[in-house]
Amino acid sequence: MDRPPVWLMRQAGRYLPEYQALRKEHSFVECCTTPALAQEISLQPWRRFGMDGVVVFCDILMPLTAMGIEFSIDDGEGPSLSPAVTTREAAARLRVPTAKHEYHYVKVALQELRTTLGEQAAVIGFAGGPWTVAMYLFAGGRLHDRTAVKRALLQHRPLLDALIEKITPMLSEYLVEQMRAGAQVVQIFESWGGVLTAAEFADIAVPPLRTIIDHVHSATDRRAPTILYCNGSAHLMTELATTGADVLSIDHETDLHVARTHTDAALQGNLDPALLCNGTPDAIRTATMRMCKSGGTTGYIANLGHGVIKETPMENVGAFVETVQAFT
Ligand code: CP3
Repeated sequence: MDRPPVWLMRQAGRYLPEYQALRKEHSFVECCTTPALAQEISLQPWRRFGMDGVVVFCDILMPLTAMGIEFSIDDGEGPSLSPAVTTREAAARLRVPTAKHEYHYVKVALQELRTTLGEQAAVIGFAGGPWTVAMYLFAGGRLHDRTAVKRALLQHRPLLDALIEKITPMLSEYLVEQMRAGAQVVQIFESWGGVLTAAEFADIAVPPLRTIIDHVHSATDRRAPTILYCNGSAHLMTELATTGADVLSIDHETDLHVARTHTDAALQGNLDPALLCNGTPDAIRTATMRMCKSGGTTGYIANLGHGVIKETPMENVGAFVETVQAFT
């Protein structure tokens, strides 16, 4: 392929009327845990726009359900996890699932996607980064602002460390199992990493990320690349480059040229989702061309700087995908 491959973070979801229609009939968790529904939702954006990657429909918080945590997505409220894990005793009591014996639903969805798609698109699996998942566990899903995250870090560091230690092996195995089931590439979403200073990120987030990425590489003979995404990461480029991820997914605040000076890893990104949502198709085409020129044709995956915003017009998503696929 002499143009970059393209997919979009959160490409399956609420901006699509066909997703909205399914969600009227089924809860979010039901959509994730019913392989036929998860497969259908994963394929909805691909049928419309023909992206080069299809990400399995699930959520970074779903693996917690196998730890005895109840998870739901309530309209307009975001995620809810119950009970929140707010003490070290509660953290110690958490059951650690063996990914090999759990998550049947996501494995079946991946297998079926792989069979359906063949060579037509790459199947993408994913998990949350340990720091981000630990914060959601602590907050019971209700994570709204940076201040609360920072306060939790400064007041509850031993608990957060204990949670990270507990979930890191599970997340590693979960990704490996996804690859065994059919994922050809996996992305780790360390979405709340940007709240940390560079020193905090190096101290708290990098060691478990390294553990996961090393484990995935050794368990799969490096067959499947790992992509690492961290939102608000302009100040973390040096630290992200030390995780060993094959691809760094860059948010829209950082220029791809600048990111290149920090790492030999391949890059992914980084059109501003606000532009995709609010810009005209012409403005999107122009910005996408500029982005592709900056990304280059090797070692680069076209994507957004963060997930698709709910109100994004479908025409704009089409303009983005078409522009990348016509890029020479
Ligand atoms: O299309 C895809 O990318 C695959 C599916 C996917 C979802 N969530 C589905 C979803 C992926 C990869 C995620 C990742 C995820 N989930 C992240 C990391 C990415 C990021 O945005 O930083 C995070 C932080 C979560 C946790 C989460 N799940 C939140 C904060 C919310 C509510 C707010 C929101 O933006 O929607 C969810 C719900 C969720 N996950 C929806 C979807 C389609 C909306 C569900 C609905 O209302 O029907």
